[in-house]
Amino acid sequence: MYSRHSMSVAIKTPEEIEKMRVAGKLAAEVLDFVAPCVRPGVTTAELDYLCHDYMVNVQKTTPAPLNYAPPGYQPFPKSTCTSVNHVVCHGVPGDKKLKPGDIVNIDITVIKDGYHGDTSRMFYAGQPSIQARRLCEVTFECMWRGVLAVKPGAHLGDIGHAIQCWAEEHGCSVVREFCGHGIGQRFHEEPQVLHYGKPGTGLVLRPGMTFTIEPMINAGKPDVRQLADGWTVVTKDHSLSAQWEHTVLVTGTGCEVLTVSSGAPPMPQFRD
Ligand code: MF3
Ligand code: CO
Ligand code: CO
Repeated sequence: MYSRHSMSVAIKTPEEIEKMRVAGKLAAEVLDFVAPCVRPGVTTAELDYLCHDYMVNVQKTTPAPLNYAPPGYQPFPKSTCTSVNHVVCHGVPGDKKLKPGDIVNIDITVIKDGYHGDTSRMFYAGQPSIQARRLCEVTFECMWRGVLAVKPGAHLGDIGHAIQCWAEEHGCSVVREFCGHGIGQRFHEEPQVLHYGKPGTGLVLRPGMTFTIEPMINAGKPDVRQLADGWTVVTKDHSLSAQWEHTVLVTGTGCEVLTVSSGAPPMPQFRD
């Protein structure tokens, strides 16, 4: 029987995949560029401006978030998303200065030659608390456990399950309202990549599919709330939230991470 998803999930051609590699690397390089600027006293609007200038004037890429307006949303007003502490995702850069101990996700999506690369990392302003550092590390390993579940013949549910297990084993919770996504000439395309699930369920992965894995993991309860700006998503209980994101390609034998750069933190050491 045909999966009800597979008709609409694009298989990229080798030419498209090469363009996705270029876009993915450029997105990761924006994070490498901005990393040393993340410190107490800097505002998220300043970080956004630095990234915007680097994308537009150095890379000659287009920042995909700027004026992005999916159905039901107002145009996003900035070139990056900056999500601090209890902000889960889609934080709008603004004039608030980072304080010592803040954790911040910077999410970069560039368009180059018509193709998107989408990646985010967590950064620390000064020294984070032990709990904040642990949340960021657990979330990093969640993302990587999801990535390592990617291979032809695997199911989307295998990815979600790997992520959910690691998060919940560590007393953290998985945000349900937002997910990873297919990506290519469009920013968000099919399939939806849930960060929770059951093994052996959902779409069967095929070589040439490209999508993101971007778990949002909360230190407290999973519930989220959207602020009146129409974009910023926060935890309802105001607990800390972390997120990491890579764009990946399903290959003939496994997975290729497309959002790689010299400054991208390496895959963690897996103990079990
Ligand atoms: N980069 C986000 C993602 O990973 C989407 C941001 S949409 C924006 O899917 F408009 F807020 F930029
Ligand atoms: Co994404
Ligand atoms: Co993103």
